[in-house]
Amino acid sequence: MISLKVNGKDYKLDVPENISLLWVLRDYIGLTGTKFGCGIGECGSCTVLIDGEAERSCQISAENAQGAEITTIEGLPENHPVKKAWIEEQVVQCGYCQPGVIMQVAGLLSKSQTPNAEDVIDAMDDVVCRCGTYHRIKQGIKTAVQIMRKEGSSS
Ligand code: FES
Ligand code: FES
Repeated sequence: MISLKVNGKDYKLDVPENISLLWVLRDYIGLTGTKFGCGIGECGSCTVLIDGEAERSCQISAENAQGAEITTIEGLPENHPVKKAWIEEQVVQCGYCQPGVIMQVAGLLSKSQTPNAEDVIDAMDDVVCRCGTYHRIKQGIKTAVQIMRKEGSSS
């Protein structure tokens, strides 16, 4: 039996030993927004926030995620600047990779609201989009930063 805290909710789950966090999120909790891509830590489709850090959920055992605050795409508020920017810039094509990309960007912007070009490239490294939306992803990041600044200055 393991205990996980996902999107602010506590779960007690009977899961197989060594199962990854990705499959527990999808198959045991039913949060299917987090996607399986490569299963070897290369594509970023499975990215979630663990204590605010963007992490590959296929590479973390569910057991080791106990005690952490886990946030999936479903737990990121609809009015989060990254979600708003993604809609504004129409970043998504097929959409498969995008929950992971959005969580990666949310992790980046939670640490720095003024990322430089290098930070953006670093954060996007290893994020694979088969539809090649990289240009729109970069534009989405710029727009998310602007939205954050605007919201920060009006609060
Ligand atoms: S499915 Fe986890 S990095 Fe590709
Ligand atoms: S939008 Fe299709 S894989 Fe990225």
